[in-house]
Amino acid sequence: MRAITVAPDQRLELTEVPDPSPAPGEVLLDVAAAGVNRADLLQRAGNYPPPPGASDVIGLEVSGTVRELGAGVTGWRVGDRVCALLAGGGYATRVAVPAGQLLPAPSGYDLVDAAALPEALCTAWSNLVDVARLREGETLLVHGGSGGVGSAAIQLGRALGARVLTTAGSPERTARCEDLGADVAVDHHDDVPAAVAEATDGRGVDVVLDVLGAGGLADNVRMLSTGGRLVVIGTQRGSRAELNLLTLMQKRASVHGTTLRSRPVADKARIVADVRERVWPMLDDGRVRAVVHERLPLADAERAHELLESGGVFGKLLLVTDGA
Ligand SMILES: NC(=O)c1ccc[n+]([C@@H]2O[C@H](COP(=O)([O-])OP(=O)(O)OC[C@H]3O[C@@H](n4cnc5c(N)ncnc54)[C@H](OP(=O)(O)O)[C@@H]3O)[C@@H](O)[C@H]2O)c1
Repeated sequence: MRAITVAPDQRLELTEVPDPSPAPGEVLLDVAAAGVNRADLLQRAGNYPPPPGASDVIGLEVSGTVRELGAGVTGWRVGDRVCALLAGGGYATRVAVPAGQLLPAPSGYDLVDAAALPEALCTAWSNLVDVARLREGETLLVHGGSGGVGSAAIQLGRALGARVLTTAGSPERTARCEDLGADVAVDHHDDVPAAVAEATDGRGVDVVLDVLGAGGLADNVRMLSTGGRLVVIGTQRGSRAELNLLTLMQKRASVHGTTLRSRPVADKARIVADVRERVWPMLDDGRVRAVVHERLPLADAERAHELLESGGVFGKLLLVTDGA
């Protein structure tokens, strides 16, 4: 098969590599498209190695068709149109994936666009629902609503009945967040805590989904309401910071951190099953949709990474194989 590999000078190249074969419990896919994630940039730079046993090819999600079933796999057939959450291996024409990480391509969906769904929806769902316990009528702040995860989180927050506040990097991008369903979208170059205080009459928000990490910690804790939950999923502005425990105690608030990729296969399968049961109906009735910025050929992975680094991408970039 062909896959994108990282050359010693860190350039991305399309090369011939051996085909993966499905282990027991795995499924081999012919890839239609791979989603591009910010974590891919870190892996390429050597700062986010794949978990033990995972492919060292970059790529955390794909769409495609089932080519072969490994021993013991039930519930899927050769030719099924699917998308999948991966621990790695997505930037390729074939990938082997644990059967529990497969989702059917949503009905009526272009198979390529389905590649934009697994990572963003599984990340946003598991953090908003399992970790933060976001409830109907609560207020949610999504940092980076213009990003792959953020654009999914805005729509899920809205579908769950929350009031959604979000941040993005320009007036054009905040307007697009409002089009996606955000009630209030704030330019993150402005005074975000002031805007959040104004939008909540000084009460603060019940849940913050954060991609900033250390650089956002103090403001995030300040913006929480009593009983608020901060969930950190990214460290775009660093990973070490001081936390004022007294503020946390006075608010009876909590701070959580999670990663999806490093979780055991059984954990991922549970999240994928929940997303299939609870979120897939939202795709069917249009409450949630894939936000695709652009499709590029798999061979242009280098260009895709440049685009993501440039900061102009809204939602997801997809790398499309010849077979799509
Ligand atoms: N823990 C996990 O399991 C997990 C899973 C998936 C992703 N992640 C992490 O989550 C983060 C987002 O992933 P992604 O794929 O959605 O990345 P992305 O598409 O590149 O989005 C990044 C977002 O960060 C925003 N941003 C940048 N600087 C900001 C600032 N100062 N204040 C507020 N927002 C700011 C960007 O907004 P503008 O472009 O509009 O400026 C953009 O919306 C990444 O750090 C990624 O590694 C974690």
